Amino acid sequence: MDLHAEKILILDFGSQYTQLIARRVRELGVYCEIHRPDLPAADIRRFAPRGIILSGGPASVEAEGSPRCDPFVFDAGVPVLGICYGLQLISKLLGGRIDRGAHREFGNAEVEVLAARGPFSEFRPGDRVQVWMSHGDRVEELPPGFEAIGRSGNSPFAAAAHQSKPFYGFQFHPEVVHTPQGKAMLRAFLFNDCKVTGSWTMKGFIDEAVATIRRQVGEQGRVICALSGGVDSSVAALLLHRAIGPRLQCIFVDNGVLRQGERAQVEALFVDRFHVPLKTVDARARFLEKLAGVTDPEKKRKIIGREFIAVFEEASRDIQDAEFLAQGTLYPDVIESVSYKGPSVTIKSHHNVGGLPEQMKLKLVEPLRELFKDEVRALGRELGLPEEMVSRQPFPGPGLAIRVLGEVTEARLDLVRRADAIVQEEIRAAGLYKELWQAFAVLLPVQSVGVMGDERTYESTCVLRAVTSVDGMTADWARLPYPVLERISTRITNEVRGINRVAYDVSSKPPATIEWE
Ligand code: XMP
Repeated sequence: MDLHAEKILILDFGSQYTQLIARRVRELGVYCEIHRPDLPAADIRRFAPRGIILSGGPASVEAEGSPRCDPFVFDAGVPVLGICYGLQLISKLLGGRIDRGAHREFGNAEVEVLAARGPFSEFRPGDRVQVWMSHGDRVEELPPGFEAIGRSGNSPFAAAAHQSKPFYGFQFHPEVVHTPQGKAMLRAFLFNDCKVTGSWTMKGFIDEAVATIRRQVGEQGRVICALSGGVDSSVAALLLHRAIGPRLQCIFVDNGVLRQGERAQVEALFVDRFHVPLKTVDARARFLEKLAGVTDPEKKRKIIGREFIAVFEEASRDIQDAEFLAQGTLYPDVIESVSYKGPSVTIKSHHNVGGLPEQMKLKLVEPLRELFKDEVRALGRELGLPEEMVSRQPFPGPGLAIRVLGEVTEARLDLVRRADAIVQEEIRAAGLYKELWQAFAVLLPVQSVGVMGDERTYESTCVLRAVTSVDGMTADWARLPYPVLERISTRITNEVRGINRVAYDVSSKPPATIEWE
């Protein structure tokens, strides 16, 4: 079956929730893509969507230069759902009237269902549903042919529909969790109006991806893949292995800034269990030599990035006739470039293997480019990746080097590695691992006085960092139970000689970042 036969097109007007719309649609088993708001008619035709969703956005449709969609959207012969800015745009383009800024609304609201049609078809007139509002402008007059199907205290047209065509608009956000029945609304729109069947599953994706990889790589082609031990590269490798077997060659670089047992874990899993051709390069000495004396975080990142490319290139030289390089690029990286957004500043440079393909003249294979992180995890499970790998917390490419503040030496790495192993163990033992985005130890370039037995000590300080987050963009410090804090602290100071003090980081992001460097 063609998983991509039923596609939904999402035009992105810059809302912070656009990716959430896409994830909800995918969760309902429907493939969708996010594209620029002004996608031309020819491209829309080529995409052949079963339905179009217009996202929200920060602009006012009344403002000069605010984004517009191609009017073809309304002639494409498919259902259209406008969300927030999307509704205002439908109103503006089809002849309604918008009141700018006069009725700002933010937060929970109650919508009374007036007609059980379209996205409201699972409700009954008179039902009251809780929704999340976040808008500055409001529709004052609907375009000809439209009627209200829902109203709130503040918005007479909280939900609107055309009387005869499948065009709908919401003033609120069905995609966020604060609209508890939002998924039911999207489901009704997709299954009733767009007439999809919900065939997008990771089981089906494997067959399709395997066929695509075989087509791209050909009968003879060989692929090299940099394994990091993280979820993305692990899943990409397993998928490629499924497609081309021994023509995949993985390379794992031990850069000396890995966590305890990481290398052994990767080898056990890929070589012993999955029989994936894997070459491990022990480059620890080389990385540490380059990092000697360096304290600047960005310099550390650059050195590790550069050295990785050099080591990887050398290691792949003796792999005969490899033409392809696999990368675990995910969908959010792909859409970064299509969204309607202002320029964002780089706080930290997060390039890990950037630069590899250009330098090595290899063609890229990116089998995960259509997937969100949660889909990659589901795919990993389908491919038999053990749960502890599938649900692994993110670990930065520059590794422990950016968790050893100040100079990176073998001795200091050893301290943070041992402290971190205790953190991992205790967080897992407390059943908190999956709830947390990340939990780890940081070694400060600070010594303080302590007492052990009757002896005065003057040793290093370690910080415990544990955060909750949805996507790493913002984060909150985790309210870890005191007994867990106590166990971690006691164990670190008892078991890691050289650390006599443990502090807990109670900063959220912003203004702090998750990592300390
Ligand atoms: P920050 O510290 O910027 O981190 O709040 C956000 C997320 O990104 C990870 N991170 C990195 N990942 N290379 C990576 O691959 C890096 O240089 C890097 N720096 C931070 C961090 O662990 C968190 O999940």
